[in-house]
Order: sequence, then C-alpha cells, then structure tokens
Amino acid sequence: MIQTVIRNARVFCRNQVVISDVLIERGIIAKIGSVRAGGQEIDARGRLLLPGAIDAHVHFRDLDEAYKEDWYSGSCAAAAGGVTTVIDQPNSKPPVCDERAYFRKQRAARKSVVDYGINAGIEKLDQLDDLWRLGVTAFGEVFVQEKSREELHHALQTIKRLNAVLCVHAERRVGEISSELAGIKTVLACNKEIRAKVHVSHLSEASGLDFVRGSDQDVSCEVTPHHLFLSNLDQARLGPFGIMNPPLRSRQDVNTLWSSLRYIDMIASDHAPHSIADKNISFPPPGVPGVQTLLPLLLARLDQISLERLVNLVSATPAARFNLKNKGAIREGYDADLILVDPNDRKIITPNVLYSKCGWTPFEGCVAVFPSFTMVRGEVVCSEGSIKVKKGWGSQVCGAGLRQFNSPLLS
Ligand code: DOR
Repeated sequence: MIQTVIRNARVFCRNQVVISDVLIERGIIAKIGSVRAGGQEIDARGRLLLPGAIDAHVHFRDLDEAYKEDWYSGSCAAAAGGVTTVIDQPNSKPPVCDERAYFRKQRAARKSVVDYGINAGIEKLDQLDDLWRLGVTAFGEVFVQEKSREELHHALQTIKRLNAVLCVHAERRVGEISSELAGIKTVLACNKEIRAKVHVSHLSEASGLDFVRGSDQDVSCEVTPHHLFLSNLDQARLGPFGIMNPPLRSRQDVNTLWSSLRYIDMIASDHAPHSIADKNISFPPPGVPGVQTLLPLLLARLDQISLERLVNLVSATPAARFNLKNKGAIREGYDADLILVDPNDRKIITPNVLYSKCGWTPFEGCVAVFPSFTMVRGEVVCSEGSIKVKKGWGSQVCGAGLRQFNSPLLS
C-alpha cells in the first residue's frame, strides 16, 4: 500500500488550525491525527498545510492558440501556485459547444499535471443535455452581451432542469464604458421565473456586488486577483498588459471588494494569457495571466484576510458550488490535494518563476508566498517551484451529470 505521512504540520481542518500528522493512502486523506511510522515521511515542521486551491476560471487556450498556453504549461503554472484543480472555460479555439469539441478539449487536457473540470458554452442549445451527461462541470462563462434574451432564456431553462450552473460574463459595453450592473440585471431578470443557479464571473464593481447581494436568486460570484490588487491607477504603467475585460476599476471599487470579501463566494484568476507580441499591437486582446499568482498574492496578505476566509474563498466554496466531489477541504476520505506553506517565506514575483507560456505577469514586483509543495491526490506535483510529475498526472473531475448518468440509483 502506498502511504505518505505528513508530520507536525499546522493543518487547516474544519475551519481551524490543528497541529497534527496526516496519513495519505492511495491518494486519499486516510487519517488526521497521530500516525505511526510507515511509508514515505514528510516533516512539515510547523508549516501550514492547506487544501489546494480550486481556480474556477482559467483559459488554457489549447488547441488552436496553444502558442499562448497549453494544458501542460498552464497546469504547471497552477501547480507552482498551489492550485490543485482548475476549471477551464469554453471560449478556446475551437470553442467547446458540442460533443466533438468537448472530446478534443478532453484529449488536450490529458497533458495536465493538476486535476481539472471542463466547462461548455451555450452556442448550440440542443447540445446542452448531451454535454452535461458527458461530464462538463458547468456552462459558461457566457458573454451576456453577445446573447439574445431568447437564447439566455432557453439556456437557463435547460440548466435549471439539469441542476447545473450558468457562469456569466455579465458586462455591457458601450464604447469604452463597461457596466457590470447592466449585464447582471439582464441575466437575473431573464432568470426571475426560471430560478436556475447563476454564477457571476469576475465581479469587479461595488454596484454589481450590491445587486448580487440583494438578489433572492441562487446566485454566486467570484472576484479576480487583478481586481483586488490593481486599479485603474495602474493602467498607464501597465499599458497593454493591464487590459482585460472587465477592465481595472477605481480605487473605491477595489476598497469595496476588499471590505466585502465576506459577501464574495470565491476568488478565481480568469487566467487569460496572451503572448507579449500579441499584446504589443494597437488593439491588444484583453486578458492577463493569473493562475500561478492567485494564491501566493493572497497568502502574503494574511494580515488583511483571515486564513479561514481565504480557504473558503479559494477551496471550499468553489468545490461546493461546482460540485467537485471530495475536494476543497482537508478531511478524511477527501482527495489529498494539499499545499504546504511557510507564511514567512515572502518573495518578490519575477517573470523567471512563471510557467505560463506568455512569460509576463501584471503582478511583477508584488510580494507573494509560494507553496513549498503542491500535492495532487497524494503525489507531490511541484516542490520549491520545480515540477515533479510527468505530463498527465492530472485527471478530469467530471460534473454531476456524468455521475447521475452512470449511477442506476440516481438516474
Ligand atoms: O480579459 C478577458 N480575457 N476577459 C475574459 O473574460 C476573456 C479573456 C480571454 O479569453 O482572453
């Protein structure tokens, strides 16, 4: 039997820190408590053992834009940043909106070194049932502005019946003006009678947050590190490398997001890499990388955010919202998706530590705490910044649709 014992760690377990050993057997957390000698031993010497982060919003670009990112480079970036599961968005080329494209994405994702979910788009409304049964995690992110009321209505009805989640890029743009509130209102008005589960991706404005909080619908929201750590005051300094959708917001919006973290469900990166050459043109494509820096930036701010809140935002809530079974917490019977952290090991972010093919970050020069190691189902995938597993250690975390379909009890 393959066993690993992590000793003397400060383990974050059931919303508190306890000093304990953790026994891992065949990739699963078998015991939290005192463990006798056996198997591989890791001395954690008082460092923090946390559940790996779940980044519910990445764009890993494979297939036709693999020069920007592919599943290997993107997942190595995730592992180096303490992210043990990613959820990939469907706006790749080709987009994931039918069975064929879904299978192609699945094949590309076999290179991943961390676990992953695959989201599907709603371009082909008659495909949603099939895609759900094949194991997609959720639908979207859907660009609300590009959809008619009828399309949204139809998608929400199907998603309600499937008990899935619709992730929305709720932004209305008129020229340079971007209003999130208008986008959120459109979706929630459409969903008024249907009452499907809705997830607002990369919420960035105080007004949008107020509206989501005031809604009686089953609506969750995420914010990105770039909307927490940067504002429109950084725009001139960053030039094209500070352009993303939704755009950087005012200092007041940033302060409101920080002071409202208890009303925000999760923090996700919206990792959207573009090459330096792609960015250095007159109309650069929107998007910034972020999967590797998401957790390290936050771990350097434990004076501003409690450990409990942080773990809920990056691990427990994404697992619960997207139905990722046995993930998101350190608990007996759960996957051993773990990170070991020394909060005093603070580093300045430099491009040479990055695994993303894009090779840049808007967070260069920021303070960060990178994990000492990242473990996915009991295997150390990254240690002190070096990848330790072969391509393909990651495996797909299928959505509830596949589980329902394959279970005679539930179908
Ligand atoms: O800035 C962005 N870029 N926002 C998105 O929602 C999509 C992303 C991309 O795919 O490049």
